[in-house]
Amino acid sequence: MDSILVRGNGPLNGQIPIAGAKNACLTLMPATLLSEEPLTLTNAPRLSDIKTMSTLLASLGAEVSSLNDGLVLAMSSHDLNNLTADYDIVRKMRASNLVLGPLLARAGQAVVSLPGGCAIGARPMDLHISALESLGAEIDLRDGYLHAKVAGGRLKGAVHEMRFASVGATENFVMAATLAKGTSVLKNAAREPEIVDLVHCLRKMGAQIDGEGTSEITIQGVDRLNGATHPVVVDRIELGTYMLAPAIAGGTVECLGGRFDLLQAFVDKLHDAGIDVSETENGIRVTRTGGDIHAVDVKTEVFPGFPTDLQAQMMAMLCTAKGVSNLEETIFENRFMHAPELMRMGANIDVHGGTAKVTGVAKLKGAPVMATDLRASVSLILAGLAAEGETKVSRVYHLDRGYEKLVEKLSAVGAHVERVSE
Ligand code: UD1
Repeated sequence: MDSILVRGNGPLNGQIPIAGAKNACLTLMPATLLSEEPLTLTNAPRLSDIKTMSTLLASLGAEVSSLNDGLVLAMSSHDLNNLTADYDIVRKMRASNLVLGPLLARAGQAVVSLPGGCAIGARPMDLHISALESLGAEIDLRDGYLHAKVAGGRLKGAVHEMRFASVGATENFVMAATLAKGTSVLKNAAREPEIVDLVHCLRKMGAQIDGEGTSEITIQGVDRLNGATHPVVVDRIELGTYMLAPAIAGGTVECLGGRFDLLQAFVDKLHDAGIDVSETENGIRVTRTGGDIHAVDVKTEVFPGFPTDLQAQMMAMLCTAKGVSNLEETIFENRFMHAPELMRMGANIDVHGGTAKVTGVAKLKGAPVMATDLRASVSLILAGLAAEGETKVSRVYHLDRGYEKLVEKLSAVGAHVERVSE
């Protein structure tokens, strides 16, 4: 199994191109199931999660071709010959559940495995189920699979309010409702940029949708959707991760393609921490020329709040801030697994339930570490950039799920980062 070695090496300088968003691509890909015509995505990220979704779509009968070194995904779902999303694929990636809404809308039935436990919490499916049931689906759980069908074969428009603004349940509802009969309204909808990107693509396919980016989305069902070509929005989590690299190690890095509107709450916290962040013609520039990082309190929230997917990386920075920072995680119940690993590097962190109190130390020290999820793993790499000595991060397959060319991108700005096989 591969590991990544990081050696703290002083300031970073240069540019890092930001890829298309993993989480947008993972909801745009199942949208192919809604149409008999081809859907082509450009600016796709080159990640193992995208391969997993390709495998899942292919298992349903879709054709998926990866072109232009993986940047273009050409998909066609003319004939669907299987309506079951198998456990062997779904267990690898929870986003597999995003085929449920499109399959129900297009074929009137679907069988989708429950994803099972996840390292960052229980992550149930109740919000997806009630959202799709409101559109007329009947869903039973048997043998670990959700068996869903629609009497009469076509979903019916409805008004539905979610108890929590789930990203995935919003995506499943919106995709399903595009082909339902009549008008659907989703209240307390999630507002994340990945949902806005999905709606932009669905609109190109002929869907009639209003209100994306607000908490009420209205969908006027149509009889069929066309093909389309759509560029995947920039990855705000990869962006935030690389913005933290110079904030932690010092120097100036420009993240190409970055935009403040994708992560304003995060930008505000970097300003509060004393980091110099500005928008440029080509992206976002982050500079730290010396001086202390100030402690800041962070609470994760649904968009436009501070993203849970940047909490671990932010903690890595706050480990060497001057003073005490309190990080509160409100989206997932078990998302501080990086804390004990950061403590192995000398961080002073006290976790109580959903809150972590981080008391800044002058410097971290390299250590062998590992993490059990994607964002936790990358937080350890960030911490290693300014640590004394060598940090060895194992279980690199987590990073391959969400960060394309991580070693190349960090090396290009002067970091000492290397991937080794054992
Ligand atoms: C998506 C992102 C993930 C991000 C998360 C929150 C993708 C592929 N993944 O995940 O990176 O961390 O949004 O921004 O886009 N919940 C329920 N019942 C449900 C569904 C969710 O209780 O039916 C709970 C979950 O357990 C969790 C919270 O809602 O505690 C947030 O989940 P949700 O917004 O659905 O996240 P995902 O779409 O799974």
